[in-house]
Amino acid sequence: MSSKSTLATAEVVGKQALSDFAYQKTDIADNVFEGKPLGSRNYKRMKGLLMQRVSPTRYVHCLSVAKTARKIARAYDLDTHKARMAGLLHDWDKALLPERLRDRVNDYHLDFDEDVIADMPWVLHGPTAAAVLADQFPELGEDVFHAIAHHTIPSTDMSELDMIVFMADKLEPTHDVAVYKRLSKQIGVIPLKELFFEVQKAGLIYLIEANRPMNVQTIKAWNYYLKDQPKNKEKSK
Ligand SMILES: [Fe+2]
Ligand SMILES: [Fe+2]
Repeated sequence: MSSKSTLATAEVVGKQALSDFAYQKTDIADNVFEGKPLGSRNYKRMKGLLMQRVSPTRYVHCLSVAKTARKIARAYDLDTHKARMAGLLHDWDKALLPERLRDRVNDYHLDFDEDVIADMPWVLHGPTAAAVLADQFPELGEDVFHAIAHHTIPSTDMSELDMIVFMADKLEPTHDVAVYKRLSKQIGVIPLKELFFEVQKAGLIYLIEANRPMNVQTIKAWNYYLKDQPKNKEKSK
């Protein structure tokens, strides 16, 4: 076996092991969740737990999303603590391989169309993370879980916090994509909903250009927020 294929095999084994670990119930026996749920002490605890269950690159991304989410929340005078925690934990289930994500869907009786489960398992990690975190850390609160759930599949009932986490996932600075670099300069400059719309649009363009499938909810959300744009409001008058 060449050293290249040995490395590839090690990578597959590593991914499987991380997925199996992350699927298990988080061991918090001697890590009692106490104090202000969204305060700095618990933020550090969650950081420690997250570090064990995602790859090092993913961990860096999560920290960057947390920082960016806080920055966006501050710019629009919204709750920075919720934004930071939801940003940190949004990829809690990202290391789960498709079969484990499907197990989670069954464990928590989550409702998805068959084509999403079969053909787009990667979008499941938002809703599964929200379900497992709500189960193990209910103190974090519904707003945080809702934002985590919707970072992969936008909905027509996105709260401002949901929009923040959705945007921070794309606009965080380690994500080196020209359109997102340009849009990140608009944080605090244009209204939050307008920025969300532009980020959503860039994400859809990426999916089309990369020949990737789109789920129905994502298209519904696009149509919904499209109507809400000032230019289209004018047209429909
Ligand atoms: Fe994600
Ligand atoms: Fe992410």
